[in-house]
Amino acid sequence: MQEGLEGIVAARTRLSHVDGEGGRLIIAGYAVEDLAPAASFEDVAYLLLNGRLPDPPEGKEFAATLAERRALPSVARAVIDEAAAAKAPPMDALRMVTPLLSLGRQENPADDAMTAIAAFPAIVGTYWRVRNGQPPVPIRRDLSHAAHYLHQVFGDEPSAERARALETYLNTVCDHGLNASTFAARVIVSTRSDVISAITGAVGALKGPLHGGAPGPALDMVFEVSTPERAEMVIRAKLDRGERLMGFGHRVYKVRDPRADVLARAAQRFYATDGDRSLYALARKVETVALQQLRERKPERRIETNVEFYTALLLHGLGLPTDLFTPTFAVGRVLGWSAHCLEQLREGRLIRPQSAYIGPADLHFHPTSAAG
Ligand code: CMC
Repeated sequence: MQEGLEGIVAARTRLSHVDGEGGRLIIAGYAVEDLAPAASFEDVAYLLLNGRLPDPPEGKEFAATLAERRALPSVARAVIDEAAAAKAPPMDALRMVTPLLSLGRQENPADDAMTAIAAFPAIVGTYWRVRNGQPPVPIRRDLSHAAHYLHQVFGDEPSAERARALETYLNTVCDHGLNASTFAARVIVSTRSDVISAITGAVGALKGPLHGGAPGPALDMVFEVSTPERAEMVIRAKLDRGERLMGFGHRVYKVRDPRADVLARAAQRFYATDGDRSLYALARKVETVALQQLRERKPERRIETNVEFYTALLLHGLGLPTDLFTPTFAVGRVLGWSAHCLEQLREGRLIRPQSAYIGPADLHFHPTSAAG
């Protein structure tokens, strides 16, 4: 038995390849560092859903089709209002609203996938605004997917630089092999269940701090350090208490996560012209000290910086609050979930592993003693 299924290959995929020893991530044939900073999110979506990049007319038509599906079903607003009144965390609200996307529509895997990818920005943006007592903003179909998300959250049209920074982020995190949430989605559709059910389950899996929930605590750590001189002391104290340093370590990567490099470059570009430059410098210092300490204490573990560390920095620079870090990850990753669901439905078999029973087998049940 392999605890946590570590090293077990459970699916064949053409969508992404995570090379943990080489520190490479290939997205449908392209190195993440080439694709993510240069391609539009819509073209990357086409690539994952169709297996190749679109030509310009195909890309235009695909982007328009996606934009047409941005609006939420009307009942979503009632659920959003109730969730906001209960002050539900945004990931919980996303998990509550996602299943409503199937309401009043015929079940159709490709159609469900497009609807979920298109609708996530409006779910997160509308919820965030309602929870903060602001009116939701109308859907804009003329904006790119990334710009539309920022518009849904902030209510104004973002600059080209801000939209590009977010687009690079969404492309960077859109797919990543058989991570926990993608596996959850594939398990669900492997029973021939529907894509919206699978995406709902994946949202639940992403919420946990060992998967998509790490960037908030990673940024908290940078704030807690507050000045470069305190980095050594704060990080040492955390490790002495047995805490994990959020934004470091990965099940598959034994070298630096290549996505951390892409986002570090995007953050460097972004903070050169916008945002708090001293925060960027502080984060670099925290990273250096954290890596030193982790190497000293756990040399055999090869713990390196992961994607979440620079996610935190980039999304914070864009003005997104910590509470929206994981939902923003979901806005990107819903593309990978969708593409994996379609692949699983096309080519996969029911996913049904076995368990090793470690409980007793010789107990005797006496009905009368239970009733007495
Ligand atoms: N800080 C301190 N110690 C760590 C860390 C860390 N960030 N990561 C792993 N370790 C230690 C852990 O304490 C354990 O030590 P020991 O053997 O002495 O008890 C050892 O390394 C192995 O830990 P594990 O949990 O069995 O290893 P894993 O392969 O399951 O770890 C991980 C992967 C991501 C759960 C883990 O590195 C971690 O908890 N990191 C912090 C949370 C984080 O940044 N999560 C985002 C992951 S990237 C996003 C994604 O792709 O989903």
